[in-house]
Order: sequence, then structure tokens, then C-alpha cells
Amino acid sequence: MASIATAAAAPPLAAPECESPAVSIIVPTYREALNIPLLARGIDDVLAPRATPYELIIVDDHSDDGTGAACEQLLSEGNPVRLISRRHQRGLSSAVLEGCSKARGTYLVVMDGDLSHPCSAIPAMLDHLQSGEADFVVGSRYVPGGSTHANWGWSRTINSRVPSWLSRPLSPLRDPMSGFFALPRDSLPERQLLSPVGYKIGLEIFVKGDFDKPKEVPIHFGERVHGESKLSAREQLRFLQHLRRLYHFHFPLLSELVQFGLVGASGFVIDLLFYLLLQWLVGLSHTTARALSFLVAASWNWGWNRTITFSQHQQLAKLVQWPRFLLTSSLGFAVNWGSYVLLTSEFAFFDQNRILALMAGVALGMGVNFITARLFVFKPFAEDVKRDNATFND
Ligand code: GDD
Ligand code: MN
Repeated sequence: MASIATAAAAPPLAAPECESPAVSIIVPTYREALNIPLLARGIDDVLAPRATPYELIIVDDHSDDGTGAACEQLLSEGNPVRLISRRHQRGLSSAVLEGCSKARGTYLVVMDGDLSHPCSAIPAMLDHLQSGEADFVVGSRYVPGGSTHANWGWSRTINSRVPSWLSRPLSPLRDPMSGFFALPRDSLPERQLLSPVGYKIGLEIFVKGDFDKPKEVPIHFGERVHGESKLSAREQLRFLQHLRRLYHFHFPLLSELVQFGLVGASGFVIDLLFYLLLQWLVGLSHTTARALSFLVAASWNWGWNRTITFSQHQQLAKLVQWPRFLLTSSLGFAVNWGSYVLLTSEFAFFDQNRILALMAGVALGMGVNFITARLFVFKPFAEDVKRDNATFND
């Protein structure tokens, strides 16, 4: 008999007596063999007394630590476990999504396999969904009654708090980073909409789905009992990339404008630097230095806007796009300078407050820059325009 752990291509092993469970509990695992039996018992202890039919879906990335044997053992004891053993794909988020796609329950609960999420919170989470009081429930460390293990050092606390804070505008959740959440299966966003990078699949589902009644159930986030955490510094960096995408999804235009502004601000520093250096080091005249530093700064802006701000737009050939960007930037610069001259020569107020005229010029120039760049240099894809219009008209 092929062991479960190597049966990657075979259909997931399932408990036959439970064809249409009410609840699917999805647990991504990598090397959690010692924790899985304890978790399975914990889940059964809270769901069996309620007579809730459930399935426990373990989505494992082909761990070599006896995960397959542990699941086989559970199955032989009558536990409704299904093991999905993945050979060709890795990663927590994609594991969760794979589990969701194979789940049969009316409700999905996603939780970690290392016993840091308390099974005792599952009934309350399901109650909120079943009563219709909530459409997305999070097991939360940061609502009254919630807590984390006392041994959490400052670095882990910062690692958890800063991302929560950065993602505040995206959701009303106090603990949006939680890997413990529940939702009705039919409100899962379409698969092609989801493009999680890294760890934060709960936030991704919440932001891209259509949820308006989120609820947080307080939990104590315990210390893992066996094994070690897989959350590395690289995952944290990936999270920033993920966050940028989510902002782009949630506030498409605003997020582009902010990124365009930040790139522009960095370009201003480059502009100033080259303006001075070209005079001091190369001995150019201030007017030539001014023209050249503009060219350098505009090219800098083009590069970053291409890789960051408008990375999800159509990418023209560099040799076509770069001169176009220089052109639209010159137009922006002309508007910036022209409005400064106009305001200070026509309005006594602005003549007395020239800094305000300068700021107005910068804002106008940047607006023109942004619009023309978006129209002629970094055109959005037609589907994105359609989608943005649809969201706008909702
Ligand atoms: N299939 C699969 N593939 N599972 C994985 C992988 C992977 O590449 N990496 C981790 N897991 C599983 C682990 O086995 C565990 O069951 C769960 O995902 C969480 O992984 P941990 O390594 O224990 O993560 P953590 O405790 O550092 O992070 C948890 O807390 C964060 C908030 O502080 C997770 O719940 C995160 O989602 C959460 O953001
Ligand atoms: Mn953990």
C-alpha cells in the first residue's frame, strides 16, 4: 500500500463516513507530525459534543517527519482527517488555498498546526457565522480578552504589531495578521483574484472578498509545543510586497498617487544632488547643471515608477517608454514652473508667500505629471480600467 505521505498524485485521503461535513478545518503544515495528533484531539474535543460533522484537512508540503504516518494513525482511529500532501508546491498561503479548494464543509476554519491557536475558540467562531451575526471571524490576540504568550520578545511583538498597524486602513480588524479565521465557504473570493505572497492569507481573503460583518473572537496565542516557526525575515519582506498589492487592490488610484509622490520626492533629492555635484565636481554652469540634473532625476523617477508604482500596468519597451516619460515630466515641470510664475506675478498674496506658490506649482505639476504618465506612458490594462470603473460605480 502506498503510504499517505507519498501519495501526492492520489486523491486526498478522506474519512468516508463524512461526505458532507458542516465544517472543514484547514491546517497548513510543514513538519508538524508531533503536533497533528494533539491538534486533531483538541478539535474533536470541542466539536464532538456539539455533534458538528467536520473534516480536518491537513495540507502538508511533503514533510519528512512522519506526518503521513500520523495522519494514517488518526484515520485508523476514526478521526475525519484528510491529508493533502503536496510535492510540487510550497508555502503557507498556497497550502491554505489548496485546502479551501478541496474543502466540502459549509464553513471553513483555517488554523495553524502548531497548537498556537486554541481549539476552544472554534465553537464561538462557528456560532457567529451560523447565526449570521458575522461573515468573517478572526481568532484575535488584540481584542479585549486576547493575549499572546508571555515569552514573546520585543522583536516578535514588533514583527506582529508593525504589520498590523501598516495594514490598518485595509480592514477594521485589530488582528488582521492572524492565521486563525473562519468564513462561509461560498464567500471565498474567486481563486484567480487571490495572489498571496508570503504569510498573510487571512488578510488577503478578507480584503478581496466581500465581507461586511467581520468579528473578532479573543484568543490566547500560545507558544508552539513542538518544532519551530517558519516565519523568517524574508517572509516579513515579502509581506511588504503583499501589502503593496493589497493597497493597490483596495485603493487603486490613491495607492498609485502615493507611490508616484514618494518616487517624485526621492527624485527631488536626486535632482538637488546632481544639480550641486555637476557644478562642484564637474564644473558645469548652473543652467546646464539644472537641465542635466532634471534629466537624471526624471530618469530615476521613470525607473522606479516602472518597477514600483505602475508595475501592474502595460510595459512598453524601455526605449519607447523612457523618452515618453521625459516628455510628460517636462510638461509637468513646465506646468509647475509656469504656475509659479503666474501666481507670483498675478497675485500679491502669492508674491508675498512665494513658498505657497512653489507648493501649488509642485502639486499642479505633479498632478499633470501623474495624469499624463498614466495616459501615455504607463497605460493600465483594459480589464483593470473596467474593474476600477465597476468598483467606482458600486
Ligand atoms: N503547507 C505548508 N507550507 N505549511 C506551512 C509552511 C509551508 O511552507 N510554512 C509554515 N506552515 C505551517 C506551519 O507548519 C504551521 O502549521 C503554520 O503554517 C504556521 O507556521 P509557523 O511557522 O508556526 O508560523 P508563525 O507561528 O511564525 O506565524 C503565525 O503567526 C503569525 C502572526 O504572528 C501564523 O499564524 C501566521 O499566519 C501569522 O501571521
Ligand atoms: Mn507558529
